[in-house]
Amino acid sequence: MIELIKVKDYKELSEVAGKIMLELVQANPECTLGLATGSSPVGLYQYLIDAYKAGKVSFKNVKSFNLDEYCDLPREHPESYYSFMHTNLFNHIDIKEENVHLPSSLGGDLEKNCKEYSDALNAATVDMQLLGIGANGHIGFNEPGTSFDSETLIVTLKEKTRLDNARFFDGDINQVPTHAITMGIKNIMNAKSVLLVASGSNKAQAIKNLMEGPITEEFPASALNNHQGKVIVVADEEACALLSK
Ligand code: GLP
Repeated sequence: MIELIKVKDYKELSEVAGKIMLELVQANPECTLGLATGSSPVGLYQYLIDAYKAGKVSFKNVKSFNLDEYCDLPREHPESYYSFMHTNLFNHIDIKEENVHLPSSLGGDLEKNCKEYSDALNAATVDMQLLGIGANGHIGFNEPGTSFDSETLIVTLKEKTRLDNARFFDGDINQVPTHAITMGIKNIMNAKSVLLVASGSNKAQAIKNLMEGPITEEFPASALNNHQGKVIVVADEEACALLSK
C-alpha cells in the first residue's frame, strides 16, 4: 500500500521528504540510496546538504545509484544528470566519488552498459529509492508501455517528456536528447523502500492515476502499487488537487 503524505507546498515537501531520507542515513550510515534528478528533488537535496553542513549526518559510507542519464550528452554538459547530481548534491557533501553510480551512455556498446548497471544494482541492495514522476507517469525514464519486468534499458523519450524537460535546454525541444539510459521498473521495484516526491499542478493527473487508477504498463508509476515494502509519496496541495479525497 502506498502511504500518501500531503503537504502544503514545495518548501514543506522538501523538508518532510528530506527528513525521511536524512533519518534513514542517520540510522544506517552505510546505506545505499537510489537517487533521482529533475526539479522535484532539488529542495530535498538542499535539506540534506544543510543537515550535513550542520554536522547532523555524514555520507562518507553511503553508496548511491542514480536512476537515469541522457544519451548523446557529454558528462560535462551542465544538463547531464552526472553534472546535475554533482551540482545539486555530491559536491556539497562528503560522499565518496567511488561510491556514486550513474548509468553511462558513453562508449559504443550501450547494451553492455545496461547489463553492467543492472549487474551492479543486483549485487547491491538499495535501501531507499527516491523518485520524481513524469506528467505521463514515467519513473526514471521508463515511458508508458515499458514492461514492468524491464531492467536497465535504452529508451526513446516521448515528445511530452522532451517538451517538459525543454525548460532545462533554453526552452528548445530540439536540444533535448531523444534517448536515455534508465534503470528498469524491475530495478526500481527491487529497492527496499521508495520515496516519491511530486509538486505542482502539472503532476496532479499523474498523482491521481498513481493513487486511484489501474495498475498498468501504460502508466509506469502504477507498478509501485505492487511493491512489497514501504512506498511513501510526498505530494503538495497542487499535486493532490485531483484526488477524490
Ligand atoms: C525527468 C527524469 C525523471 C523525473 C521526471 C520529473 O524526465 N528522468 O527521473 O522524475 O523527469 O521531473 P521534474 O521533477 O523536473 O518534474
